[in-house]
Amino acid sequence: MERELAGSLPLLQKRGFMELERYQTSRQKPAAVNLAPLDELQKQLREGGIETVALREIDGERTRLELYRCNTVIWRDMPHEAHVEWQDPPFDIFTRSIFERPAVLLDSFFVARDGDHIVGLSYLLRRPDGDAEVGDTGVLSSHRRRGIARVLKMLVTRWAAQQGIPVVHTDNRADNAGMLAINRELGFQPGEVVIVLEKTMASPTAI
Ligand SMILES: CC(C)(COP(=O)(O)OP(=O)(O)OC[C@H]1O[C@@H](n2cnc3c(N)ncnc32)[C@H](O)[C@@H]1OP(=O)(O)O)[C@@H](O)C(=O)NCCC(=O)NCCS
Repeated sequence: MERELAGSLPLLQKRGFMELERYQTSRQKPAAVNLAPLDELQKQLREGGIETVALREIDGERTRLELYRCNTVIWRDMPHEAHVEWQDPPFDIFTRSIFERPAVLLDSFFVARDGDHIVGLSYLLRRPDGDAEVGDTGVLSSHRRRGIARVLKMLVTRWAAQQGIPVVHTDNRADNAGMLAINRELGFQPGEVVIVLEKTMASPTAI
């Protein structure tokens, strides 16, 4: 946590740890969010050729392939350190991680479609205490700044409010200006900043 860093940093640095990234945690009370503009915003997207729908409504083989294609691109697009290697999971493992993972609140899963192509997604994960946390949110770079993420997150928020989920938690890399702006707009209140430190261990050949 950021508030503990000042005390522990000298020791951590002496031990070879370096700061890797920072995450801003935040919490939203879905029932307190003003969702009055949602229907109009959704209509405007529809008029511009973008449908926003519950994943359940369009589930099927083709949708699952589209979801895989979209989500793997979005993962690679999330702000991350240049040296971090990333490997996409195989299709069947991805599919199970969404459709068969108990933590995934499948009814909270909304996607944006441009024709047959999924271009954006957002969903929640269950927490054991009855709260929820944000899963992934993302929009393909070809479709950004059209208000798609805003509408998807509003749909997720409306669902959470209807379910009586008291609090939704999230954390975002502190340099993810877009996601932080949308979350602020949707009532997420900032909490602790989590700092990730890294130490590269010497490889056996280097000793
Ligand atoms: C963050 C992300 C989901 C935003 O999707 P989007 O559909 O372009 O967002 P919207 O068009 O709904 O943006 C709504 C508002 O958020 C803010 N915003 C969005 N992107 C922004 C950016 N890059 N910088 C600053 N503000 C931004 C703006 O206020 C915007 O309203 P405006 O366009 O009227 O100014 C998208 O950039 C993305 O998929 N990024 C990669 C994946 C990712 O980082 N996901 C989050 C991981 S925690």
